[in-house]
Amino acid sequence: MMLFQRSTAQLVATVVIVVFMSLILLYQARERGPMWNSSRFPNASRPKDRLFVDITNNTLGFEKILVVGMPSRTDRRDGMTLQAALSNMEIEFIDSSDGTDIPDKALPNMDGHERLPGPVIGSWRGHVNAIREVVRRNLTSALIMEDDTDWDIRVRQQLQNFARSSRALTQPLQGYARSYGDPTYGLPPGQKDTHSPLPSLPELVIKDMDHLPITTDPKISPYGDDWDVLWLGHCGQLLPKLDDKNVPKGRVVQQNDETAAQRRYLHSVLKPFQYVEEYPDHARVVHHVQDGVCSLAYAVSQRGARSMLYEIGMKNFNAAFDLLLHWACSGENGRDYHRCLTVQPPLIQHHRPAGPKSAQSDISGHGEGMNEKPHTEEIRWSVRMNAEVLMVGGTDYVDQYPDE
Ligand SMILES: *[C@@H]1O[C@H](CO)[C@@H](O)[C@H](O)[C@H]1NC(C)=O
Ligand SMILES: *[C@@H]1O[C@H](CO)[C@@H](O)[C@H](O)[C@H]1NC(C)=O
Ligand SMILES: *[C@@H]1O[C@H](CO)[C@@H](O)[C@H](O)[C@H]1NC(C)=O
Repeated sequence: MMLFQRSTAQLVATVVIVVFMSLILLYQARERGPMWNSSRFPNASRPKDRLFVDITNNTLGFEKILVVGMPSRTDRRDGMTLQAALSNMEIEFIDSSDGTDIPDKALPNMDGHERLPGPVIGSWRGHVNAIREVVRRNLTSALIMEDDTDWDIRVRQQLQNFARSSRALTQPLQGYARSYGDPTYGLPPGQKDTHSPLPSLPELVIKDMDHLPITTDPKISPYGDDWDVLWLGHCGQLLPKLDDKNVPKGRVVQQNDETAAQRRYLHSVLKPFQYVEEYPDHARVVHHVQDGVCSLAYAVSQRGARSMLYEIGMKNFNAAFDLLLHWACSGENGRDYHRCLTVQPPLIQHHRPAGPKSAQSDISGHGEGMNEKPHTEEIRWSVRMNAEVLMVGGTDYVDQYPDE
């Protein structure tokens, strides 16, 4: 009798567990949606939602544009003011300093390291001031730029293509709550996808802007609702490592982007320069941040600004700002992983005015001698280099990097 009761109870328990497990698996399958297969996506037309159109507004689809630099560099503020006016952009200046005004006490130092060089401190403070302002004013997003940068006359067109790519990589597929065009996206950092083998690299690369996955329209930002940082201006980015435990691996490649200079004009501080090795001329590649240098321009969402204020402003200040940003993106050196996207070639780059090379940076030496010809690195129809054409309403633009 006792034996019979025991086995009945066991049977009932087993049935309950089996039913429960099946329900969980069924629910997970529904939530995860279909597996990635680029041929599955029909020709997707350009997005038509209102937010997408906002990318053409005076703040490029962000809530504000903040420009970081030292107030004493009036030359740079003059240049930025004119560029912004010629581009129909509203900007606000945020002060950085030479670092001498910031006492040791104000520098988070968790391991007793030596005080970093003054210009590194001043630049870090300028960026953190901008990020703090985004948090304090509760801005939904802001583009933060350094004051010696420049961009293409066609920046709005470029940003719309960037937004289509960032949506493809980070917005849920239409009709699914937690399924993404990039199967390596959406899992909590560090958690390996155990349900399916990781697709090989060719399957993780969307090679054609006409076949982007159809995703849910974002509600907060034209660039998608699930990003922390968009690193749009830099002097080098590595492609995501396939064995990295944090960084999602998906990429979107826009072929034949005439606004991208040919590879022979491009350079990278980070070696190897994988982009020029792997992609043809005029390809524009959007991917997650693995390792980047030079914080020339980046956007933060409100969520991203709060995280960066914490990770970069409040944790151990033991490296230059761009290195801290890289660590907070890829989740290294005591910083947590965050969702950061970038683009190669970059959309915003250094402008180098004519004059003594020593004037080009307040952080590191740029050598002796004169820079004879002003130029903006890697940008074809630079706004600064076309200022004279734009001011008289011309359209015969100077192409700094013509095709050969
Ligand atoms: C879909 O794209 C292919 C190649 O990209 C093109 O040949 C075809 O005409 C497109 N179809 C539609 C309906 O746009
Ligand atoms: C531009 O669009 C963004 C996103 O909708 C919005 O937050 C911002 O306020 C707009 N900027 C202007 C100047 O209207
Ligand atoms: C910040 O803005 C969000 C909506 O964008 C709102 O829900 C929240 O209450 C605001 N927070 C503060 C402190 O104003």
